Amino acid sequence: MVLFDSHCHLTDRSYIASLDDVISRAQNSGVQFMLTVGLNIDDSLASIKIANKYPDVYCSIGIHPHDAKGMRDGDMERLEKMISDTKVKAIGEAGLDFYRNYSDRESQERAFHKQIDLAQKLGIPMIIHIRAAYPEAKTILLEHKYFNGVIHCYSGDDIFAQWAVTQGFYISFTGSITYDNPNLKDIAKKLPQDRILIETDAPYLAPVPMRGKRNEPSYVKYVAQTIAQLRNSTVENISELTTKNSKKLFGI
Ligand code: NI
Repeated sequence: MVLFDSHCHLTDRSYIASLDDVISRAQNSGVQFMLTVGLNIDDSLASIKIANKYPDVYCSIGIHPHDAKGMRDGDMERLEKMISDTKVKAIGEAGLDFYRNYSDRESQERAFHKQIDLAQKLGIPMIIHIRAAYPEAKTILLEHKYFNGVIHCYSGDDIFAQWAVTQGFYISFTGSITYDNPNLKDIAKKLPQDRILIETDAPYLAPVPMRGKRNEPSYVKYVAQTIAQLRNSTVENISELTTKNSKKLFGI
């Protein structure tokens, strides 16, 4: 069984003392591949460092909607320079979060537009974060006509999911698929198998039975197990197809 945790945050403070252990626990539970996701310029640089330390760890670089208000002139050029590192596989996470609103909406939209432009210019996929802003995100994506990437930690409805996969996006599920969430479970049941990714979003959103603890990439197997049950499949089969999908999207 070979799993791919397509979205985690290995730069998180809570891993500093034990990152070697976190990575070996993941690899001992079948999680061969991990992609650590950048949240801002400094975090993207830190993600590149981690990805270069471990053979099967990759990374993305970008500005999270929570950090959009801190975006400065020249940040897109800074990101563009980072792309030359061969471990960088995507732009993100970028998007809109109108649930927390840690950045004002205007800053979030500006950062999202600029990062889509950059991804489009470079022809690389995006890791898209959307929370309580699905219609607004759809409008922006349609404006750019760039549909190369994944809608991570999916929390939208069935209609958006169908639209996204028809355009060519992947949909990624976190530990929230293991919670009491009938609508999300129903979406995971019906999606075409070549559009599904799995992730932990660690250190957040630990899946059942680890809910409430610090999450880590080794727990992505619980996400795979839940999706296997929902789709009357096996965990081996779901691991294989989601790993294949992640590799295809990120060009690995
Ligand atoms: Ni994340």
